[in-house]
Amino acid sequence: MSTTPRMQAVNIGVLLLFCTLCNPALAVLDGLLSNGNFELGPKASELNGTEVLKHNGIPDWEISGFVEYIKSGQTQGDMLLVVPEGAYAVRLGNEASIKQRVSVIKGMYYSLTFSAARTCAQEEKLNVSVAPDSGVLPMQTLYSSNGWDSYAWAYQAEYDYSEIVIHNPGVEEDPACGPLIDSIAIKALYPPKATSKNILKNGGFEEGPYVFPNTTWGVLIPPNIEDDHSPLPAWMVPSLKAVKYIDSEHFSVPQGRRAVELVAGKESVITQIARTTPGKTYHLSFAVGDASNSCEGSMIVEAFAGRDTLKVPYESKGKGGFKRAVLRFVATTTRTQIMFLSTFYTMRSDDFASLCGPVVDDVKLLSVRYPRNKVV
Ligand SMILES: *[C@@H]1O[C@H](CO)[C@@H](O)[C@H](O)[C@H]1NC(C)=O
Ligand SMILES: *[C@@H]1O[C@H](CO)[C@@H](O)[C@H](O)[C@H]1NC(C)=O
Ligand SMILES: *[C@@H]1O[C@H](CO)[C@@H](O)[C@H](O)[C@H]1NC(C)=O
Repeated sequence: MSTTPRMQAVNIGVLLLFCTLCNPALAVLDGLLSNGNFELGPKASELNGTEVLKHNGIPDWEISGFVEYIKSGQTQGDMLLVVPEGAYAVRLGNEASIKQRVSVIKGMYYSLTFSAARTCAQEEKLNVSVAPDSGVLPMQTLYSSNGWDSYAWAYQAEYDYSEIVIHNPGVEEDPACGPLIDSIAIKALYPPKATSKNILKNGGFEEGPYVFPNTTWGVLIPPNIEDDHSPLPAWMVPSLKAVKYIDSEHFSVPQGRRAVELVAGKESVITQIARTTPGKTYHLSFAVGDASNSCEGSMIVEAFAGRDTLKVPYESKGKGGFKRAVLRFVATTTRTQIMFLSTFYTMRSDDFASLCGPVVDDVKLLSVRYPRNKVV
């Protein structure tokens, strides 16, 4: 007997209801976690000043250690604390952490995006984990002038729930020195595939971490990402510094809705290994531009394909725009490393404090059957 679509719908409804009852984890969709911007706070009786006294004092979160509940506009010394989303954020003191459990699809890849700000001059780090994976994200380099940056981190779900933990492993003298955290979001990542039009995967960077609709500073893809758990699927960031993932809603993007800004000169690198046939000729084509973020001056993007390189100069007025370039090469091995970096460091001309750089987008690799003599 076949079931009608209506009956199937009812069955799924029953199943969902059943799972809601049997699994206390919060269901997850792309976007903010439940109370992910901390707008719901502790009751007055659960606070001592800014310190949260109960481990479940912040709705939908479990905290441990010295966690403070911070209101936007609050001052610390002569510093005004501003919160990127809504009016509240949390601060993690030494060894403090926040935790939320969400239900996910086992085996699927997910990326987390969160905004964080340092409040003291010390070097700070955050350890993001979903057991058995974890990553320590350095926060010593400031990329945006208002102090807040958004960071992405990705993992593959080993279970049908994820316990997301953000922990400050710091041991500062002043327990009130610790990073502020706001706006924690999750997004499922779909592993991109090579196509007949592009041997590279995710060449337009369209698949990537969640970008907060209201933040204007993009998302940092942290350094030292060398495995397949990259928040920028198919690409790795094996360098010492991050690259910035930018959106067309807030930046000038050469193609589609997303691109990458090389924000830290030669220290910020993106790379992907392509399958190639030795002896065949290939065209690596890509766009080089600026993000329309007051990043002005003479820039050079260096593209690498195995041992072949191409330096693409770009004069930026900081108002958007791009040009296209092609690196033609003959493959010498079955795996060719494709890589991009920026020759120079650049600072934004509007604040002289934030790192910026050229944008790379629309990266395509194709074998060409009838190689022309002229390099385009
Ligand atoms: C509140 O904090 C003050 C100063 O840190 C401390 O002396 C006091 O014992 C705390 N009160 C409670 C109820 O924890
Ligand atoms: C980060 O946190 C995870 C989970 O608690 C832990 O296993 C890992 O050792 C931590 N990493 C560092 C460098 O502290
Ligand atoms: C973004 O900002 C607008 C206007 O301030 C606000 O109405 C909206 O709720 C914000 N969206 C998010 C996701 O915070």
